[in-house]
Amino acid sequence: MDLGLKDKVVLITGASGGIGEATARAFAAEGAKVVIHYGKNQAAAETLRQKLPTESIAISANTADEASVAQLFAQAAARFGQVDITVANAGIFPPDDVPIHAMTTEYFDKVIATNLRGGWLTAREFFRLLAKTKPESACLILIGSTSGIFGEAGHSEYSMSKAALEGLKLTLKNEIVKLVPRGRVNMVAPGWTWTPMTEQFRSVDEAVITALQTRALQRIGRPEDIAHSIVMLASETASAYITGQTVVVSGGMEGRVLKQRQEIDPTKA
Ligand SMILES: NC(=O)c1ccc[n+]([C@@H]2O[C@H](COP(=O)([O-])OP(=O)(O)OC[C@H]3O[C@@H](n4cnc5c(N)ncnc54)[C@H](OP(=O)(O)O)[C@@H]3O)[C@@H](O)[C@H]2O)c1
Repeated sequence: MDLGLKDKVVLITGASGGIGEATARAFAAEGAKVVIHYGKNQAAAETLRQKLPTESIAISANTADEASVAQLFAQAAARFGQVDITVANAGIFPPDDVPIHAMTTEYFDKVIATNLRGGWLTAREFFRLLAKTKPESACLILIGSTSGIFGEAGHSEYSMSKAALEGLKLTLKNEIVKLVPRGRVNMVAPGWTWTPMTEQFRSVDEAVITALQTRALQRIGRPEDIAHSIVMLASETASAYITGQTVVVSGGMEGRVLKQRQEIDPTKA
C-alpha cells in the first residue's frame, strides 16, 4: 500500500534515539523528508541523518524553551519551505519512584517543562508555521503514554504530563481545521517500550514480569511497534478520517498490578 508520504516533510522531536529514531527511519522508508530534532546527542542525530535514504537535516533545540523551539521550526522551514507532519515525541521519564509526599517542585517542574510545555510549544510553533504556509494537509501526532491513562505510582508528574496532552489533542483537532481544512491531530500512547529511556530495567526480572502480567501480548514493545503506528496515523491514505484519537500501543495492557501476591492476605479480604 502506498501511504502517500513520499516527499512529505516530517519533523520529529527527540529523534536522536529510541522511538523518535525508529520513527525517522520509518518515515524515510516511505520516502518522506525528515527533520531530525535532538537535544544533546548530536552524534546520534548525525549518524541517523547519514543513514536515512531521503533528504534530511539534524537540528538541536531544547523543547522546553520557547525561543529554541521557534528556531527549530524556522530552520526546518528555511530548509524545506514547510512542515507537513510533526511528531511531538521528545520527553523524559525520571526512573526513580518518587511518591508525591517526597517530590520537590523542582523535580515536578522539570518533567512538566519538558513533556507538557515542550509538547505544547512544539504544537504551537507547528501551528504558527501552518498559518503561514497553509499546506494542503497537515498532521500533528502527540506522544502520550499508558502512564497518562492508567496512572503510575511514584510518577505523578510524568503521568500528569502525558494525561494533559490528551486535552491538548482534543482542543487542537478543532483548531487545526481552521488553518488547514484537512488537518488532523492524534496521539500515540506507548506502553513500556525498549529504548534508552527504559534500558536500565531490562535486567530487572520482577519489573518485566509485573508488566507482562498486565497485557495480552507477552513482550515489551519495540520502538518500531510505536513508529509504525505513528506512520499509519500520519498517512492520509490510511487515516484521512481519523482525528482526535489515541492509539494505545501496549500489547493489550489493561491496567497495573498494584500488589504482589505475597503482599495480599486473603484472610483479611
Ligand atoms: N520508552 C517507553 O517505555 C515509553 C513509554 C511510554 C511513552 N514514552 C514516550 O515516548 C517518547 C520517546 O521516548 P523514548 O523512550 O524513545 O526516549 P529516549 O530514548 O530517552 O529519547 C528521548 C528523546 O527526547 C529528547 N529530549 C528529551 N528532553 C529534551 C529536551 N528538553 N530538549 C530536547 N530534546 C529532548 C532526547 O534528546 P537527546 O538525547 O539528544 O538530548 C531524545 O532524543 C517520550 O515522550 C516518552 O515519554 C516512552
